[in-house]
Amino acid sequence: MSTRNAHYLSAMGIQPWALRAAPRVSGQCSPVAADAAAEEIALANMAPAPVAAGHVTAGARADVAEMDWPRLEAAVAACRRCALAEGRTQTVFGVGERTADWMVVGEGPGAEEDRRGEPFVGRAGRLLDNMFVAIGLRREAVYIANVVKCRPPGNRDPQPEEVSACGAYLDRQIALVQPRLILALGRFAAQSLLQTDTPVGQLRGRVHRYAGTIPLIVTYHPAYLLRSPEQKARAWDDLRLARAQIAGDG
Ligand code: URA
Ligand code: SF4
Repeated sequence: MSTRNAHYLSAMGIQPWALRAAPRVSGQCSPVAADAAAEEIALANMAPAPVAAGHVTAGARADVAEMDWPRLEAAVAACRRCALAEGRTQTVFGVGERTADWMVVGEGPGAEEDRRGEPFVGRAGRLLDNMFVAIGLRREAVYIANVVKCRPPGNRDPQPEEVSACGAYLDRQIALVQPRLILALGRFAAQSLLQTDTPVGQLRGRVHRYAGTIPLIVTYHPAYLLRSPEQKARAWDDLRLARAQIAGDG
């Protein structure tokens, strides 16, 4: 393995996993990797439950499809179109560069996201940040959103009618950003965006198209990677595929 690859893997927290067997490599560990290791050890048993399927575009509405950013943001902040409105502290719209090449889509806000109003700021978010580091991306350079904008109570799966109600907002965010690549994190985002029931393990590893146009790559959800660190090598392959897709498409 090259030093460069070792650095990337260490940024994803793969190196610390090997560390226990081979303490001598600790000199190669970046502070990010050390954080990732501590994070992983402290939180390995606390990841949320797996997620279910949905269909994003089923809820598309003409009014939302014409909104600009300020209108869309205001519409989401005031939205009560599904039952998830009742349990939220606030909506979690999305964050990042609105002309980004990369758009990253997760499932829905967790407790920390619900408190802070920003996606992926909890423990899964810290691993996601390390995954960005691994491919030379800054969090600020991508646009990050979720399939549903309100926290499902107790981290339960969003229901199909909730995904359907919220889907128009995500579709509009994608249309406004016009990313060159969508990275779908986990089963829920992948199956919703691709409107399929195929398991993530079969969707990852190749390039799909969102709505027949935008290249979309599926990888494991960082919360799942916290529980199943042995899958990080596969996630790393997906990230490299995504980076190659961006580099190769013009
Ligand atoms: N998990 C998600 O899918 N999205 C978030 O914003 C946080 C955790
Ligand atoms: Fe509206 Fe989406 Fe929140 Fe449901 S989850 S209330 S559709 S913003």
